[in-house]
Formats: sequence, C-alpha cells, structure tokens
Amino acid sequence: MDQQSAKVILDGNTYELPVIVGTEGEKGIDISKLRTLTNYVTFDQGFGNTSNCKSAITYLDGEAGILRYRGYPIEQLAEHAGFVEIAYLLIYGDLPTAEQFKNFSETFTEHSTLHEDMKHLFDGFPTRAHPMAILASVVCALSTYYPGIDSAALSTEEFDRVAVQLMSKIRTIAAFAYKKSIGEPFVYPRHDLEYVPNFLNMMFSNPSRPYKIYDEVSKALKVLLILHADHEQNCSTSTVRLVGSAHSNLFASVSAGICALWGPLHGGANEAVIEMLEAIQKEDSNVDKCLEMAKDKTNPFRLMGIGHRVYKSYDPRAKIIKECAHDILQKLGINDPLLDIALKVEKKVLADSYFVDRNLYPNVDFYSGIIYKALGIPRNMFTVMFAIGRMPGWIAHWKEMMDNPGRKIGRPRQIYVGHNKRDYLSINKR
Ligand code: ACO
Repeated sequence: MDQQSAKVILDGNTYELPVIVGTEGEKGIDISKLRTLTNYVTFDQGFGNTSNCKSAITYLDGEAGILRYRGYPIEQLAEHAGFVEIAYLLIYGDLPTAEQFKNFSETFTEHSTLHEDMKHLFDGFPTRAHPMAILASVVCALSTYYPGIDSAALSTEEFDRVAVQLMSKIRTIAAFAYKKSIGEPFVYPRHDLEYVPNFLNMMFSNPSRPYKIYDEVSKALKVLLILHADHEQNCSTSTVRLVGSAHSNLFASVSAGICALWGPLHGGANEAVIEMLEAIQKEDSNVDKCLEMAKDKTNPFRLMGIGHRVYKSYDPRAKIIKECAHDILQKLGINDPLLDIALKVEKKVLADSYFVDRNLYPNVDFYSGIIYKALGIPRNMFTVMFAIGRMPGWIAHWKEMMDNPGRKIGRPRQIYVGHNKRDYLSINKR
C-alpha cells in the first residue's frame, strides 16, 4: 500500500500527517498527533467527518447505497440468513458452521428467561411508562443480577455468556414491558421455539388466547431485525463505544446505547413516521402541506424517516423494507391507507428540488412502522424492535473496541468560547 500523507500548513509551518487507507479504499487523515505537533485541534460538530476507530464489522458506502456486514451484501443476508446467524457473524466475524450455530442457538435458549426477582422491577414502573425507558433500565439492571464482570479482563467464556444473555433476554424484557403496559400476565420464553417466533409468542399469547405464529409474520420480523442489526458508527453505537471505552460493563454500555436510540432523530424516527403519516391522513392526505412545513426554515418540523447522515442515495435497507411492506400487507390481506400516504410522500420527495438538492431519501425508518403495525406491534414498541435488532451490532462494536490493545478512553476536545478569567464577587456586591 502506498504510504500517503497529508500536509497541513499552520502559522507558516508545514506538518506532514499520515493517511490511513481502508480495505475498500476509504481514506482518512490521521490527526492523532496534530495537537502535540501544532497545538491545534480539529472542529467537527456531530462528528460528520471524524473516524473514531478502525472497524472490520460493517461497510457502508452512502453515495453508492451499499451496506455489507463482514463483507456480505445486506440484500443476500436479508433474503437468506437467520437473525441468530447474523448475530454470530457480526460478533465473531464469520458465518457459523452448522455445529457452531447449533451451540450458539442452544445458549440463546438457555439464557432466555429472566431471574424471577427481576419481574418485580416491572411493577415499579407506571403503566404508561415508555417501553424504551423500561428496556434501558432493565438492561442496565442486568448488571446487578450478573455482577463482577471486569470489562478490561473479560475472559472469552464470560464475554460469550454476557453477549448471549443480552441478545436473548432483551426479547423477554421487551415482551414483559409490553405485557405490563396492557395489564396481561407475562408469558415465559419457550425452549421449542426459534428466536423470532419465541418473541412473538411472548408478546401476543395469553392464557385464554394462544397465539398462532404465521411463517410470513416471523419472516417479515426476521428481515427487519437483520436490516437493523448493525450500521457502523451511528449515534447509539458510538454511544456504546464511548461508554464502554471507560471500561463500563457491557450491560451498562448497551443500556446507554438504548437511550441514544430512543431519540426521534435516530431509532425513535420509526414511531414518529407513523405519527406524521396519521397527521397527514387527518388533514385529508394533504402531503403538499407537510412538505411545505418541512421545507420552511422557520419551522423546526422535519419529514420523519427522510434523510440520513451517511446515505446520499436511497438507503438500501429502505428499499428492502418497502418491498417487504407491500408483501406482508398483501399476504395478511391488510389495506393500510398509511402505506399509500407514505408512497405519495416518497414520490413527492424524490421529485422536489429541496429534497433532491440535499440528497434526502427515505431511510430505514420510513416504511418499517407500517410493517410493525401490520404485525400487531404497538407504536410505542417500534423503537424497542429496533433495539432488539441492533443488539448484535452494539455487542460486536463493544467487543471490537475492547479487543483492540491500542484503545483509548473516548474524550473529545472542545473550543472554549466562554468568558475569559473574571474575579468572583460576593453576592451583596454584584
Ligand atoms: N426534512 C426536511 N429537511 C431535512 C430533513 C428532513 N427530514 N433532513 C435533513 N434536512 C435538511 C436540513 O434542514 C438541512 O438543510 P440546510 O442545508 O438547508 O440547512 C440539510 O437537509 C442537511 O441536514 P442536516 O440536519 O445537516 O443533516 P444531518 O446529517 O445532520 O441529519 C438526520 C441527518 C438527523 C437523519 C436528518 O436527515 C433528519 O432529521 N431526518 C429526520 C429524522 C429521521 O428520519 N431520523 C432517522 C435517521 S435513520 C436512523 O438514525 C436509524
């Protein structure tokens, strides 16, 4: 590989900084010595131009609309793979052999139940509590039931156990949070069901009404989980890395990621999209009015599910989800007017110079809510579904960071713009 470098001229002096080249040809200027050499730092609000790490997990080309997990195109994985298989791929780097898969799946089953005492935690939350708040709290509380994990010296066996506990128990926590919110008894995980049907059963069956698990429903949910499983250095994953960089345990790091995901500019957008589509519906499907509001710079309103920090072309996940939405609605015989409104919004967005000039396209959250709704998942659980899907990605990134002997605690700089030194005056002299 050519040893490239970048030259920076500051105060008349020229400094040479190394260039790092990734396996897909992405280039980055290594500024880690910049302050030592020059006393300057860089300024990059929202980290739009800053790589915090080298990562071998997910490749994303936002201009070309490419997304690959460990080299495998997302389209192939969504069509053919299972969610637990993808979790293994993301965390351990390769697709599992039949034996590795069997062992891995068995540990999922083993760790799916919650400690009986944990059930009382759910009683402490108000009935109307948002399930994302419950999820973040109970995931963090796992560290009280499985304490003593030294993140910096985690054995392979301990990591494997904690990783599977998180991925398996998050389903149970999510379903219990839902049951609590509707006042129904908890349904325990079953050892004879696979990952997705097991979750659906915990969500929707009750003692007087067993839930029939349809393959189409399980498949649609599986596809959504796979498409959400990782997305490199997004807000929640960067949060998991940042918290983990202080050697906080994996439960705590992931709990922080759940909180970051909750925001409407991130994973919470899936809930906000449905609210927006319903608001349009109430306004006699007046899409133009909504677009005008989004374009008005004096109005903070944005079209939810539209735009992305990295994708400057159609989000490849949204493409698959859109097809999947058509498919599942047809299979379940549902005619959802919100899908028609969403299609209308997309058509207008793709033809409107405001959105075209800014490269704003539907993102992963634009059509996913329509599928969740068709599957009977309530709106306040949409972002919880995203969190279940994203769990393997968060864990993979935490592991990659902790496996790196050169890791450093995350600690950005700032440009201070406050007062210069001034002297304290006692209260009666101010
Ligand atoms: N509606 C209207 N205008 C928008 C939208 C939108 N949804 N998204 C971006 N813009 C405009 C901005 O106003 C800005 O315009 P300007 O250049 O005239 O100031 C320009 O496009 C660039 O937008 P930024 O906010 O600078 O882009 P950024 O990369 O910081 O934000 C984000 C990306 C947060 C996703 C943004 O597009 C957005 O708010 N979208 C709606 C929320 C959403 O769907 N979030 C989910 C993203 S996917 C995920 O996280 C899982």
